[in-house]
Amino acid sequence: MKVLVTGGAGYIGSVLVRLLIERGYDVIVLDRLFFGIDSLKEIEDRIKIVKDDVRWFDPSILNGVDVVIDMAALSNDPSGELDPQKTLEINYKGRVRVAKLAKKHGVKKYILASSCSVYGFQDGILDENSPVNPLTTYAKANVLWESETLPLADKTFCVTALRQATVYGFSYRMRFDLAINGMVLGLFKNGKISIMRDGTQWRPFVHVKDTSNAFIRVIEAENDIVNGQIFNVGSNEQNFQIFPLAKLIADSIGVEFNYEWYGSPDNRSYRVSFDKIRNVLKFSPKYTPKEGAREIFRALKEGKLIPDDPRTITVKWYKNLIEMDKILREIKINDVIL
Ligand SMILES: NC(=O)c1ccc[n+]([C@@H]2O[C@H](COP(=O)([O-])OP(=O)(O)OC[C@H]3O[C@@H](n4cnc5c(N)ncnc54)[C@H](O)[C@@H]3O)[C@@H](O)[C@H]2O)c1
Repeated sequence: MKVLVTGGAGYIGSVLVRLLIERGYDVIVLDRLFFGIDSLKEIEDRIKIVKDDVRWFDPSILNGVDVVIDMAALSNDPSGELDPQKTLEINYKGRVRVAKLAKKHGVKKYILASSCSVYGFQDGILDENSPVNPLTTYAKANVLWESETLPLADKTFCVTALRQATVYGFSYRMRFDLAINGMVLGLFKNGKISIMRDGTQWRPFVHVKDTSNAFIRVIEAENDIVNGQIFNVGSNEQNFQIFPLAKLIADSIGVEFNYEWYGSPDNRSYRVSFDKIRNVLKFSPKYTPKEGAREIFRALKEGKLIPDDPRTITVKWYKNLIEMDKILREIKINDVIL
């Protein structure tokens, strides 16, 4: 079975692609490679990599593809605000284009890599029927994308949206701008964790291998239980308040729990219910923040992760690319970088 993963060189994509090939799938990655190709180097000869953009790729690559997992995006709130217009072009219009072309080219399943951030901050426990409350361009693009692609679902084209919790754990394109990963880096580099005031805020989390496995679960599920459906991806047990989570991370690694506060007091929270994915897809995560923190700390100690790699802070890296774009335009080289 042939699976095309857009954004497959990214943080989640580069883990997911490895799990897909382990399970015997033929994999095509469509990615602009904004963070380079290092994340796929080891498996380069086992997959097909197409360096192109969701906004203008040649649709013939969809011929013979059975499943599309659409991950390509400017992938967090701050990156999404650098150039809101571009964020909408890529995360909304570009991915709707992928979905429509997939349907036209006979792809059978289309899976959206959406986010629990569509709920914004709300009281109570939020499930798939809760109203959305997108507070940023990134979250708005996800809502627009979902609302235009879920209605494409029919008997021949199965569409499923996976709203992922905040992801953590080791990846081949590492992101230290994600909460748990950043806490581990703080302990490794500075011996302390920076915690956003006042630490009582709730957030849901999921390990990168678990969220990847949720995509595989949808590929392998009968269409009638996933078609046109939205699932939150995570587990009820992994809704955490930030301050106790930071302590848990330090304890898991076995180092002293030192911390410093930053930001003005902000206790805006959201807690998410993951009952639906557990009941319908029988999905429950195998990993916890404890294992995630340990594997990252080990990788840092062994030199498998470089603490100061500029690509690990997504917004900073995209800012550099935008600056490069400007310079190239000034000297009249019209190579679009972003
Ligand atoms: N990491 C998380 O905590 C998290 C949580 C919820 C949802 N998500 C969503 O999951 C998806 C993957 O996230 P990630 O953490 O792996 O992000 P990432 O930034 O590591 O990966 C995104 C990939 O998309 C590629 N890309 C960006 N724009 C492109 C374009 N126009 N055309 C082709 N490729 C393009 C990038 O080169 C990159 O390899 C995103 O849609 C993100 O919004 C992530």
